[in-house]
Amino acid sequence: MSNSPLANWNGEQMPLDEVQVSVLDRGFLFGDAVYEVIRVYNGKPFLFEEHIQRLDRNLAELRIAADARQIADRTLETLQASGLAEALIYIQVTRGAGPRMHRFPDPPLSPNILVFAKEFPDPYAAAREQGVRAWLTEDLRWKRCDIKSVNLLANCLAAQEAYESGCTEALFVEPDGALTEGSHTSLFGVRDGAVLTAPLGENILPGITRGLVLNLAEQAGIPVHEELLKRDRLNELDELFLTGTTSEVMPVVEVLSSQRSEQSVPDGSITIGSGQRGPVVERLQAEYRVRVEG
Ligand code: PDD
Repeated sequence: MSNSPLANWNGEQMPLDEVQVSVLDRGFLFGDAVYEVIRVYNGKPFLFEEHIQRLDRNLAELRIAADARQIADRTLETLQASGLAEALIYIQVTRGAGPRMHRFPDPPLSPNILVFAKEFPDPYAAAREQGVRAWLTEDLRWKRCDIKSVNLLANCLAAQEAYESGCTEALFVEPDGALTEGSHTSLFGVRDGAVLTAPLGENILPGITRGLVLNLAEQAGIPVHEELLKRDRLNELDELFLTGTTSEVMPVVEVLSSQRSEQSVPDGSITIGSGQRGPVVERLQAEYRVRVEG
């Protein structure tokens, strides 16, 4: 039997390494596609309905005529057939394959729908206790970052720059010094006991984990302010953290930047709070576990 993850390609179950796609697929040619990443704990997809609803909205935004409910059914079937307990599900829907032209072909193409379930032995457990370093970088992305499209070149470049600088995540900085989010995570701060995060808008992804963590904070009686974090006020924060499907709630204990760029912090590095995981992050991590286990 193949070791390849189990996939569902346009309704047919097969090993992922046997899926074949045309080079004329518009996801390949233009990045004309949307995706979702879902965490599976103990065989159950976490926040599944929220992810499917976001997929549905993104399909509608790009006018890709695929049925999110049918994709949800396929996803659950694939997960069950995989027999995996700790896993990640990846879903990608492209507009389909057709003659290369920028506008949408008419009549519409048949979307290409990929689902696969892959084992996920969580690699971030230690980092969630110790905290990570984050790297400031210019936000080179387009103006609709609220759409979860596969156009991730700027995110990939930022993540690589962070990696080469010894950091775990890159944080996007706007020309006015506002910090929007990470290359693949949402960003939060804690100041005077309150949780701060960027308000939803076209400049950030409406993270599913972000939504959950805001609810958890409110239920725990922690005040929440949706306001943009600023590079020049990082020194006022008691805690800084990331959230995301794979990261969960991840403390950031140091922020670094190139000393030359417009994104820099003084001296190229700033320690957040005590330089260790703080109490608000610890509380939110505990509440998150309760949700996962519930
Ligand atoms: N990334 N912001 C960006 C730019 C992201 O790509 C992601 C998710 C998040 C967090 O969203 P959520 O809580 O819904 O996972 C925020 C996924 C995991 C990825 O690209 O692999």
